[in-house]
Amino acid sequence: MDMFVVRGGQPLQGRVAVSGAKNAALPIMAAALAADGPTTLYDVPDLVDVRTMTALLRTLGVAVDRVDNDALKLEVIDDRPAIAEYELVRRMRASVCVLGPLLGRRGRAAVSLPGGCNIGHRPIDLHLRGLEALGADIRIERGYVIAQARRLHGANLYLGGACGSTVTGTCNVMTAAVFAEGTTTIEAAAWEPEVEDLGRYLNGMGAQISGLGTPTLKIEGIDRLSGTTHRIIPDRIEAATLMIAAAITRGAVTLENVRADHMTAVIRKLEEIGVRFSRTTDGAIHVAGTGPLQPADCIALPYPAIPTDVQAQLTALLTQAEGISVVTDKVFPDRFMHVSEMARMGARVRREGQSAIIAGGEPLSGASVMASDLRASAALVLTALAAQGESVVRRIYHLDRGYEQFEERLRALGADIERVVDTPANVPASLNPLTAATPDSEAA
Ligand code: EPZ
Repeated sequence: MDMFVVRGGQPLQGRVAVSGAKNAALPIMAAALAADGPTTLYDVPDLVDVRTMTALLRTLGVAVDRVDNDALKLEVIDDRPAIAEYELVRRMRASVCVLGPLLGRRGRAAVSLPGGCNIGHRPIDLHLRGLEALGADIRIERGYVIAQARRLHGANLYLGGACGSTVTGTCNVMTAAVFAEGTTTIEAAAWEPEVEDLGRYLNGMGAQISGLGTPTLKIEGIDRLSGTTHRIIPDRIEAATLMIAAAITRGAVTLENVRADHMTAVIRKLEEIGVRFSRTTDGAIHVAGTGPLQPADCIALPYPAIPTDVQAQLTALLTQAEGISVVTDKVFPDRFMHVSEMARMGARVRREGQSAIIAGGEPLSGASVMASDLRASAALVLTALAAQGESVVRRIYHLDRGYEQFEERLRALGADIERVVDTPANVPASLNPLTAATPDSEAA
């Protein structure tokens, strides 16, 4: 198991390109199951989650090959398999995205229920309700969703839940509805850019989906989808993470391949905190965190609000803004496991229900911390970059799921970070209280 050793205090400087969006690539790869022809996807990041989806699709009769270093070629070579095994699904919740394509194109699916998750309760009741509205017969047996449908039929359905819309639920129902006889309307659909990108991919294969980029979708059923080529949109969550990395280290970084129109809420909030943005002549975005940082309140909500996937990173940044800030997550109200780890570095932050209360401005000092989920691990790296001295971030396998070559790219911007095997010998002496300088040893 690997860990990062980080020596904080270096302002990041330089230029970096944002990768293709993980949360667009995964449902789009799953939807390739439904195509009668080859698909080539460009700008697919080489992530653990992409490799897990690749392994899952191969068990479902899809040939998946990486061509060049940022493209995948997918083609169905056997359309009989329909079981998404627990062994693969338990590694990645997004595996559930094969449910809609399998049901729509093959008329049946057995998909293991996704396991637990450190960011909170992750039901799929809205997925199943939407698929049943399209005429699917759904039952839960021995930890699997068993779905069957001779022919799906169009429906007018409402997909909203207690915490708003469902991103992968919308992906599943939208893809299945492509094969439903007649017209389907989906109200309270998720309209995150990643859902819109999936819809554009499906339309590129011959689907007839309108309303993309809005909460109301209209899908005219068709019989088959052809192959196509498609470029994945830039990853707005990675872009936000890199923007905050520049700000928390008081540096200035230029980001290439950013869709600023996908991240208005985040950019506005960062400007409120004191981060400055400008366009470069070649269309990149320059992010300067060199000025004073102001406290702020942030609320994570479905798009177009601040994404829940950025709230941990914003919490890290706000530990550096003098004053009281409140970060609330209305999507995953329990997504605060990073708070106690940040406190280990001296941050004055505590959880209150679905909020983190931050008394910012305290200088941070390096410590050993442990990642608990993908975005929390990124936030802990950012916190370590701002802390004085050495830190160790453990269980970075969480981070490898969603960030490609994260430490290499941060190092290219001037960060002092390295990936080492998690063994006691690799823990810096400064982090061992028994060997680090202590008052009596200094006196002796
Ligand atoms: C997607 O997860 C993303 N994952 C998550 O990113 C992201 O945090 C989340 O959307 C919210 O934006 C992918 O796209 C692969 P939801 P998803 O269904 O689809 C409730 C990351 O770090 N809900 O939109 O699983 C649910 O409990 C990951 O990249 C139901 O009640 O999230 C939550 O409160 C983490 N019933 C809210 O809706 C359902 O059937 C939003 O969940 C489905 C969801």
